[in-house]
Amino acid sequence: MDYLERFNLKGKTAFVVGGLGLLGLEVSKAMACAGAKVIILDLNLHKKDAFLKEMSSLKCDVIFQAFDCADEKQIEFSFNEILSRYQAVDIFVNCSYPRTPNWSQASFSGIDYKNLRENVDMHMNTYAWLAKQVADHMVKNHHKGSIIQFGSTYGIIGQDLTVYEGTDMKENMAYALIKGGITNLTRLMASYYGQWGIRVNTICPGGISGHVAGQGDQDAVFIENYSKKTPLKRLGRADEVASATLFLASDGASYISGTNLMVDGGWTII
Ligand SMILES: NC(=O)c1ccc[n+]([C@@H]2O[C@H](COP(=O)([O-])OP(=O)(O)OC[C@H]3O[C@@H](n4cnc5c(N)ncnc54)[C@H](O)[C@@H]3O)[C@@H](O)[C@H]2O)c1
Repeated sequence: MDYLERFNLKGKTAFVVGGLGLLGLEVSKAMACAGAKVIILDLNLHKKDAFLKEMSSLKCDVIFQAFDCADEKQIEFSFNEILSRYQAVDIFVNCSYPRTPNWSQASFSGIDYKNLRENVDMHMNTYAWLAKQVADHMVKNHHKGSIIQFGSTYGIIGQDLTVYEGTDMKENMAYALIKGGITNLTRLMASYYGQWGIRVNTICPGGISGHVAGQGDQDAVFIENYSKKTPLKRLGRADEVASATLFLASDGASYISGTNLMVDGGWTII
């Protein structure tokens, strides 16, 4: 057995939705550096050119396709049209983070029904619908692939509110609902599509350091509170999440399906 070869993605095609975000960029890079042809679907145009240039200088095969998963027409029709250009879709990762401008008001005291409904629709429902379409495409083309959905520690446990003390941050009702839904749909999809050799898994990151799109840098007090509570005493890095995603995408994880891979420095075990 050539173990290293099991982690090689040469000859594989990988779709990364949200592939230009904080985590998506590293995920796209990891897949491309491991040899996959990567198709990024995102609406983040300002990061596109620099990233494609960097990938091309590394001789990596990365394509960008403008895509808005919050647009019903695009999710129902354009996505299928894009998929049909690639008979063999080996890897599908969704690490997009669609949210409304009033997302930060989704605490129990700040949220209204419209905010809840819109965010659940543009995040949870789109994750579900894209993954179903990809799985159906794999079945139709008799192709065994790997689907990876981005969840969060806060999709499997409640939020520890003590880490927000001394900051403006609050719990987010919509986030718990969305990520919990994504995580459990992963289990059902793994159960149903397993008969065709399709693997479906969730990656569950904990707090990751870096600039959060639309929110700026993370609060220093939050970082300190969060680090104290985590067994590894720090936030995670995007490359650490990308490495775990690469593992799930590769043949190295050929018997792993329906799981949540926690990448949280131990946060959820205490
Ligand atoms: N960063 C963290 O600390 C953290 C922790 C746990 C889980 N997560 C999860 O990881 C995933 C990625 O998070 P991130 O921090 O990289 O987010 P991010 O905001 O940095 O990136 C998200 C990407 O999604 C794209 N996107 C947003 N709306 C879109 C739409 N309608 N259509 C297509 N693309 C769209 C954005 O353009 C961006 O490139 C999310 O699902 C998030 O919930 C993140």
